[in-house]
Amino acid sequence: MPNDFADDVRRGLTAARKFLLPQYFYDALGSALFNAICELPEYYVTRAETEILNAHAAEIAEAFQPPVRLVELGSGSGRKTRILIEALLERQPELEYAPLDIDPHILDLSARELTNTYERLRVTPLVGDFHDPANALSGSANRTIVLFLGSTIGNLDPDEAASLLTNVRGALRSGDALFLGADLRKPLDVLIPAYDDPLGVTAAFNKNVLVRINRELGANFDLAQFLHRATWDENLGRIEMHLVSRIAQRVHIATLGIDVDFAEGESIHTENSHKYDEASLRDLATRGGFNVTKSWMDSRGWFADLLLTVP
Ligand code: AVJ
Repeated sequence: MPNDFADDVRRGLTAARKFLLPQYFYDALGSALFNAICELPEYYVTRAETEILNAHAAEIAEAFQPPVRLVELGSGSGRKTRILIEALLERQPELEYAPLDIDPHILDLSARELTNTYERLRVTPLVGDFHDPANALSGSANRTIVLFLGSTIGNLDPDEAASLLTNVRGALRSGDALFLGADLRKPLDVLIPAYDDPLGVTAAFNKNVLVRINRELGANFDLAQFLHRATWDENLGRIEMHLVSRIAQRVHIATLGIDVDFAEGESIHTENSHKYDEASLRDLATRGGFNVTKSWMDSRGWFADLLLTVP
């Protein structure tokens, strides 16, 4: 994992158009900042999906004959998952839960919280990247429900998303399911503040990747010389996050033995957050080899959860 980080940072910062991969946001501080984002009034995403889960958890649980096991890709704090865990524990004496997350700290924290809260829950945390879900999906005789919540799929471009779904599909058996959360297109006066909040939490979350490069790779990024920027690309249907250099500057990265030059206004592209519509979501499910069994939206029509099953 640390080698991946060094290699990916080198590749991203020596590219003609500089980029960093979004999975590297999530060190311990990054996960904490993301959890803070989820509490922001402007970041509607978490509340919209929580509304859906609260309204339909029983119906979701009833779509399966117990016992089931839960696997979650990019589990984070596991807050929203509690709603489904409780609904499933109503219907079976024990529940196996295998959360996969790239951040060992949040994984350990959430596994301990969940184990302490639900005595009939068996948690087997797994540190890893959801791009490679095979380990998390192996084993167990029980019917599997894979959770991919919170619009994490939005970090992937449509082709990558389809191939991830194909991978997940390949590891599942007939009757298993993928429960997929996706953020929907909506007016820009809602979208932009959700990714550029007035308190500056999203800016801190974005800049934290530079803090991490400073610490882990011996770099000397001056955070005051970079600006957070969130833009909407109408054609690609995505929010982009960037870190924009305020001045012409040179940054040294000791561990990589490189200097990185920035022109004034040059950016590092740090994240994409794709926004779907109903047709593109159905298309994605089909390309992944799934059937759309059910779908739900929040009351404002801002977020969708799909129950995708393996035919
Ligand atoms: C965790 C990928 C769903 O794209 O909304 C939040 C990450 N970035 N604010 C998203 C994020 C800036 C988030 N996902």
